[in-house]
Amino acid sequence: MSKITGFGTYAPEKIVDNHYFEELIDTNDEWIVSRTGIKTRRMAAEDELTSDMCVKAVENLMANSGQEIKDVEFIIVCTTSPDQTMPNTASRIQNKMGIENAGCIDIYAACAGFVYGLQIAHGFINSGIYKKVLVVGAEALSRITDYTDRTSCILFGDGAGAAIVEASEEEHFLSFNSGTDGDLGHDLYLTRQNNIINGKEAVTNGKILQNGRTVFKWAVGSIPVKVRELVAKAGLELDDIDFIVPHSANLRILEAISKDLNFPMEKIPESVTDHGNTSSASIPLAIEKEISKGTIKRGMIVLMIGFGGGLTFAGTIVKW
Ligand code: UT7
Repeated sequence: MSKITGFGTYAPEKIVDNHYFEELIDTNDEWIVSRTGIKTRRMAAEDELTSDMCVKAVENLMANSGQEIKDVEFIIVCTTSPDQTMPNTASRIQNKMGIENAGCIDIYAACAGFVYGLQIAHGFINSGIYKKVLVVGAEALSRITDYTDRTSCILFGDGAGAAIVEASEEEHFLSFNSGTDGDLGHDLYLTRQNNIINGKEAVTNGKILQNGRTVFKWAVGSIPVKVRELVAKAGLELDDIDFIVPHSANLRILEAISKDLNFPMEKIPESVTDHGNTSSASIPLAIEKEISKGTIKRGMIVLMIGFGGGLTFAGTIVKW
């Protein structure tokens, strides 16, 4: 049995408002706010890597929970924008934080990453392989955003969120689901770039390309169905859920989910207004906002569901 015993987040200092884009592309604040709900997003400093943001989120987790992390046995980083593919970002955290004996993997599941990470951590713990797992969702999307593409560049932001999942006396993970519509893979993807690094050929991440409308329709059509499925799998009713935290892709997507489920927006935390779409960091950033207001408290029932590039989704219900 397992539970989340520590939680922390990080957002870079630099705040970018919508007017910034008026200089770059043909757009305006009114369009961005009305179509997405986004008012600002954070951008990593030039020398700030995804692994640096991970470390900051873990430091915040330690400060929030008073936990030590030296005894973490496994680190899972969920990202689409790693420092590089090898060594993986989890190994960077292991090294930077001096976590002596941890297995390290990165998983690439785009905006569903953080929930997939929690599912894997739960599986490791409940099978008895490990007792303490660190899951970090972190993105430097500003590095893989095409700032000439007005349909996508206004969306993305940078940030990180971290959770410790540990063995516990009571099961706090109440249900899970996941799935993929690979047919729609070409509607949201990352290009590759062949670069020369230190005189040698290297493949690095290119830029995000997406067909926003298709992703929008897929999310609005499928996520409410998957939320209902998660609730039923847990043997609960929607009324039993204190908060539903979908990936914060676009405020209109969250409003559509709210309407479909007849579930009030006040109980659907979001991070998209202040942070933009931060992919695998968006769910932790949304939860952090509620924790700091005192609305999400220990013992509450929180449903999380991430969705994005794949197109893939992953959900879980936890007793916080
Ligand atoms: O994390 C998961 C990854 N992605 C997503 O979740 C994205 C989901 N999709 C979306 O959020 C929305 O589809 C967008 C915000 C990307 C676009 O909103 P939309 O309401 O679907 O707009 P649209 O693509 O249908 O475009 C409407 C109009 C078009 O002009 P015309 O053809 O009607 O003349 C676009 O060219 O808006 C135009 N447009 C813009 N106008 C001003 C597109 N981007 C912009 C812009 N500023 N930045």
